[in-house]
Amino acid sequence: MSPTSFILVAIDGGAASGKSSTARALSERFHLLHADTGSYYRALSARLLHSGVSPAAPAAVRAELTDLHLGTHCSGRHAQLTIGGDPVPEADLRSDAVNAAVSHFAALPEVRAALLPYQRGLADLARTHGFQGLVMEGRDIGSVIFPHADLRIFLHADPAERARRRAREGQLDAVAERDRLDSSRENSPMTCPAGAVAIDTSHLALPAVVERIAALITSRLLGG
Ligand code: CDP
Repeated sequence: MSPTSFILVAIDGGAASGKSSTARALSERFHLLHADTGSYYRALSARLLHSGVSPAAPAAVRAELTDLHLGTHCSGRHAQLTIGGDPVPEADLRSDAVNAAVSHFAALPEVRAALLPYQRGLADLARTHGFQGLVMEGRDIGSVIFPHADLRIFLHADPAERARRRAREGQLDAVAERDRLDSSRENSPMTCPAGAVAIDTSHLALPAVVERIAALITSRLLGG
């Protein structure tokens, strides 16, 4: 790899494992486009719930998804999903209703199929916008979306610690239940793929996690 080449970093992990804070810090340090794919599943879920569509009705989900026009709004280094040209407000993405429904929608093949080409296309968007690379976080990035990413990271943490993190953010969120659904689904289950670097963040502060991954990125950028 040449010293100036584009770097693709995949970060997967369970709810409240520290993916977003880590990915944001890395995107700033290395000028990477940041894609939080959980927010994409949340945006589609908010839109479907708003239209009165339940995850128990896959045919209705499919019908609603065919009419949606997905796009990207780059806000600084952050790639935000737009639906019909508009981003979904942050408060809607993190509502209790979306927290409760998102893993059920995310288990449907039609929902995953709607987002797969969109997510892969963000690598080209990052290149054409002059970013040094793309850092994409989610559940299946290193296993399904970019199995050949330059660096694949899997963050995990003790479930009790993760529930405390969410409570500190003031959110009612069944972290363990979402993990159970996300790990046991048939389509693109959350998994630490072979060859990924696993990091336990239970007793590791954010700067330490970031430093560890930053060292790996630097080594890749230098051709290591
Ligand atoms: O931020 P938090 O850890 O709460 O979760 P998130 O990253 O916002 O993801 C919300 C939900 O979207 C997850 O619980 C999964 O059900 C789903 N998701 C997924 O299935 N695949 C991804 N690549 C990202 C999220």
